Amino acid sequence: MKVVELLGIRKVIGQEEILKGIDLWVEAGEFVAIVGASGSGKSSLLYVMGLLDKPTSGEVFFEGQRVDFSGEKELSVIRNQKMGFVFQFHYLLPEFNLLENVILPAIKRGMMKTEAQERAYELLKRLGLGGKERRKIYQISGGEMQRVAIARALMNNPSLLLADEPTGNLDSKNTRAVMDIFKEINAEGTTIVMVTHELDLAAQAHRIVEMRDGQVVRA
Ligand SMILES: Nc1ncnc2c1ncn2[C@@H]1O[C@H](COP(=O)(O)OP(=O)(O)OP(=O)(O)O)[C@@H](O)[C@H]1O
Ligand SMILES: [Mg+2]
Repeated sequence: MKVVELLGIRKVIGQEEILKGIDLWVEAGEFVAIVGASGSGKSSLLYVMGLLDKPTSGEVFFEGQRVDFSGEKELSVIRNQKMGFVFQFHYLLPEFNLLENVILPAIKRGMMKTEAQERAYELLKRLGLGGKERRKIYQISGGEMQRVAIARALMNNPSLLLADEPTGNLDSKNTRAVMDIFKEINAEGTTIVMVTHELDLAAQAHRIVEMRDGQVVRA
């Protein structure tokens, strides 16, 4: 089954065409890496895949259903129930502690607080953040923030995880920890699309999609 399918996706902003006719799909269970130079359109593509941004033209399907005409309410339901996002910039709430940041999406979705906290503790521990659960976001390092964002994205056990440079600021030990957890959840059934600059990380995915100047040059 195709989780997401993009057909003829074009995105024009002002005078610039930042996505130039992209045909790409991801099968359930895949772990796909997206690579390409800075400015090639990787994040823009991920936003379209994640139903966060509408293309100027082209068709978007999620689990076989066409969604590019769907309203924001419908799209947010799909995003909340099916997707996890790790953004290039993490968007954590600085005045809240790690635990609160991680459980928020699950609480929004209706999970019981105790259950959410249990899962959050486990995820934070797996990501090397055990013992820091009650710290505020501004009291941890940038790399730690990135891992909190990953824990938050995994909280809802998404069927599709979209991650934009999830290891961008991490040292090799924490990069390995993130890759290990991605491989584990992928083995447990989560489909993953990960943007990365690092070719050795991309090589660990099932498939490498390469972007150049708004186009997919390898899929
Ligand atoms: N909102 C926007 N308005 C105008 N131009 C934009 C906008 N968003 C992206 N762009 C342009 O589109 C192109 C692709 O941007 P995008 O962020 O997708 O690249 P990227 O491959 O993710 O780069 P990086 O590796 O640096 O994150 C760039 O030239 C960028 O300047
Ligand atoms: Mg980007």
